[in-house]
Amino acid sequence: MRDESLITPPILFTTIIAQSDIWYLTLIQRRDTLLKKAAIEGACMTASALDFAPLDKILDEFKGRKDAVIPILQRAQDIYGYLPKEILQAISKKAGIPLSRLYGVATFYAQFHLKRRGRHLIKVCDGTACHVRGAPKIVDGLEEALNLAPGNSDPDYKYSLEIVYCLGSCGLAPIATVDDKVYGQTETQHLVDALRQLE
Ligand code: FES
Repeated sequence: MRDESLITPPILFTTIIAQSDIWYLTLIQRRDTLLKKAAIEGACMTASALDFAPLDKILDEFKGRKDAVIPILQRAQDIYGYLPKEILQAISKKAGIPLSRLYGVATFYAQFHLKRRGRHLIKVCDGTACHVRGAPKIVDGLEEALNLAPGNSDPDYKYSLEIVYCLGSCGLAPIATVDDKVYGQTETQHLVDALRQLE
C-alpha cells in the first residue's frame, strides 16, 4: 500500500513554490505598473514640448548631491517615462554632472530607457528554462505578427517589445508579461489575441 505521507510533502512543496512564483511576479508587475503609468504620461510629450519644471524640483531636492545619479535618473524617468537626451543634458547642466557619466549609468542599468516606449510593454523571457521551452519561437511570432523587433516600439507607440532573462518563475516557462498581466506556459497566438484586444 502507498504511504500517503511520502506523497503529500512534495505536492505541498510544489504548491508553495507555484504560489511564491505568483507572489513574486505580482510584485514585479506592480513595479512595472508604476513605470508604465509614467511611460504613458511621458509619451504625451514631444522633445520640444518637455516640461522641465518637475525636473527642476527633483534637482532642487538633490542639490549638491553629485553622488545621487541613480535616484535622479530614476525620478526623472518616473516623470518622463524614459530619459530623453534633452533631460539628460538639462540634468548635466543644472546638477554639474558630466553628461558622459549620466549616459554611462543610464546605459549600464537595464531599468533605464533612452528611447520612448509604447503604451503596452511586452516582455518575453528568454532565460534558460523559457528558451528551451520555446521562447525564441514566441519572439519570432510576435515580431512577425506585430512587425516589431525586440527592443523597439511600433510607430504608433502602442507596443514595446523587450526580451528579459529570467523573471524568476521558471516553473511557468515559457513566460511573457504584457503590462501587469502574466502569461505562463504561453504561446504566440494566445499573446497576439490578448494584444489585439488592447487599446
Ligand atoms: S527562465 Fe524564464 S522565468 Fe526563469
